[in-house]
Amino acid sequence: MDIATDNPAAPPAGLVAGNAAPAAGTTGLTQRYYRRFTASQRVLHAGLMLTFVGCALTGLPLLYAEEPWAAALARLLGGFESAGVIHRIGATVMILVFASHVALLLAKAIARGGVLPLLWGPDSLVPQPQDVNDIVRSFKWFVGAGPQPQFDRWTYWEKFDYWAVFWGMVIIGGSGLLLWFPIFFSQLLPGWVFNIATLVHGEEALLAAGFIFTFHFFNGHVRPSKFPMDTVIFTGRISEHELKSERRAEYDRLVKEGRLAEQEAPAPTAEAKWFGWVVGGTALTLGTVAIVLIVYSIF
Ligand code: HEM
Repeated sequence: MDIATDNPAAPPAGLVAGNAAPAAGTTGLTQRYYRRFTASQRVLHAGLMLTFVGCALTGLPLLYAEEPWAAALARLLGGFESAGVIHRIGATVMILVFASHVALLLAKAIARGGVLPLLWGPDSLVPQPQDVNDIVRSFKWFVGAGPQPQFDRWTYWEKFDYWAVFWGMVIIGGSGLLLWFPIFFSQLLPGWVFNIATLVHGEEALLAAGFIFTFHFFNGHVRPSKFPMDTVIFTGRISEHELKSERRAEYDRLVKEGRLAEQEAPAPTAEAKWFGWVVGGTALTLGTVAIVLIVYSIF
């Protein structure tokens, strides 16, 4: 039975926006859920989250070593040396997470007979002409000059986040490895490259932390329809109401292709949602602390 309204702007009776379950004693109906993220995608996202926050908190005391908070934070981590060790452990896991993601992409390309299905179409994370259309419609909506746009599998800002992290990994990982193994790389590269790598590593870290801990967190958790927490990346499930109200183009396409039923999944357990709240809440808190420290140090 279809319990969600066809008007994407209004939640159905008895339902509240975001991830919330139907209000008790109203419709008496339970929500349907659909699979959005696979187990491997959720594990890799968790790995990236953990290592990114870890590398940011252990790298920032080095970048702002003259600030009083840097010494306090380093002391909390067991000293500057120990912060450096934690940074390298986090970096190693982060590189493994990234390598696993690329390996899974290659496996997917082989299974689908080439890279083209990954590069093109509504399921692809590569920007498509439709994204330009979506950006224009979004800005019209922001100024009240049009209806709220309805998205497919990925919104334009999710694609932006993905590629920012993808290329960011190459830059921050590459420069970090140069800093980690200078003797090895000095056999291959001139000395000035190490000065550039130090600059690039620190500036890219600021850019990445500044972006992830503000825009990415805002889009995922602070937007009015998501506040205070979107648990979809932890549970892997999206409610029928959310799918229909935010990703109507995807919903309609799945219906048209006769694939909606195969995406249906059991509702996330209370434990899975709690896990999302605790892990997501911790990352939000630590990220916000990092932003406060960066802004305090810059000004
Ligand atoms: C992905 C792989 C990464 C590798 C291999 C790596 C490696 C390194 C190494 C070897 C250092 C020098 C540490 C020391 O002198 O003890 C360093 C410094 C630093 N790292 Fe990373 N790191 C990585 C990722 C990150 C990430 C994700 C961030 C932040 C979001 C970050 C932020 C920093 C900062 C701020 C510094 C201090 C830079 C400076 O002193 O100018 N790193 N990193």
